[in-house]
Amino acid sequence: MTLNEILIVREKLLADLDAMTGAGELDAFKLAHLTRKGTIAAMFDNLRAVSKEEKPLAGKELNLLRQSVEERFAEKEQLLGARRQEGLSHIDLTMPARTVPVTAPGHEHPLMKTLNEMISIFERMGFAVEYGPETEDDEHNFGKLNFPPDHPARDMQDTFFVKPSADWGAAVGAHHAGEGTGASSSMLTAPLLLRTHTSPVQIRLMEKQKPPIRAIMPGRVYRNEAASARSSAAFFQIEGLVVDRGVTMADLKGVLLSFARHFFGSDAKIRLRPSFFPFTEPSAEMDVSCYICGGKGCRVCQNSGWLEIMGAGMVHPNVLSGCGIDPETHSGYAFGFGIDRTTMMRYGVSDIRDLYENDYRFLEQF
Ligand code: PHE
Repeated sequence: MTLNEILIVREKLLADLDAMTGAGELDAFKLAHLTRKGTIAAMFDNLRAVSKEEKPLAGKELNLLRQSVEERFAEKEQLLGARRQEGLSHIDLTMPARTVPVTAPGHEHPLMKTLNEMISIFERMGFAVEYGPETEDDEHNFGKLNFPPDHPARDMQDTFFVKPSADWGAAVGAHHAGEGTGASSSMLTAPLLLRTHTSPVQIRLMEKQKPPIRAIMPGRVYRNEAASARSSAAFFQIEGLVVDRGVTMADLKGVLLSFARHFFGSDAKIRLRPSFFPFTEPSAEMDVSCYICGGKGCRVCQNSGWLEIMGAGMVHPNVLSGCGIDPETHSGYAFGFGIDRTTMMRYGVSDIRDLYENDYRFLEQF
């Protein structure tokens, strides 16, 4: 092995490296030349055969060869993006992404399925659909619904209060203007709160529309409750309101029975129990015969044969007159119910939080 040979090998290896275009070639190069059994190591072994006089210079040239080839190799490796981190070598960043295993490109949430079905039943009975704001003022959520100030009735519902910021009025006013219930920022006087029920939309509707009124008002409501399998701080309700001349409790009962038969099945029965709400008089709680056991008694209805579904009653005269409707000439009924529990019973969901966490494994089952 002469000095010239060493120089020739060096030029050859550097030229080979320069010509490389793929990471695979680099691997082959490393194996052939840079390992303990490779070309360069073999040349070091051959130093033993070099004459005493030439040995120091040859050793120096060989070291130079190894150094320059290793340096050029490292440069090339970086250039080709082939530098692999130990333990991550199985990750190929150039591989196409795996597609999400959807069976359908998108579908309704179970809550919205239930809601839309209920809405269409009421629409077929001639009800219009109205919406109101989720951020309310005390007047609409309580005051005009005949909750006396500082009366314990307000404790029936644990309320989230909202602290208004300087630009709140404008922002909320603009939002409400788009709701179509005639709300304006001037109606929103402090304190503000997250509505605890959909009943304030009754007020907004009666303020903007003269009777006859026949509408349902679905939407999200909020209560300050600790989250558990049975309760969530946010849930959905549907409100119903009918105001006209000569509306009676019999009309209410007829509509509720008709709804129950459409939604729960044609042999569903209902019963009304006396109850109390500040905004209805008389007030009732409606139960439907358990559609799991047909009224015989089971785990779902806790052996009673009945499921508690909604609150209802005749609109309180104070509520009507507060909205400019004469209780001497007009009367009305109202009802309100949550759709979460119904959805849960229907689909066998045991934890209400499943309806709000948007876990893909849960949602894809519907
Ligand atoms: N707003 C009542 C509630 O949330 C339900 C209700 C609505 C009762 C309308 C009577 C009339 O519990």
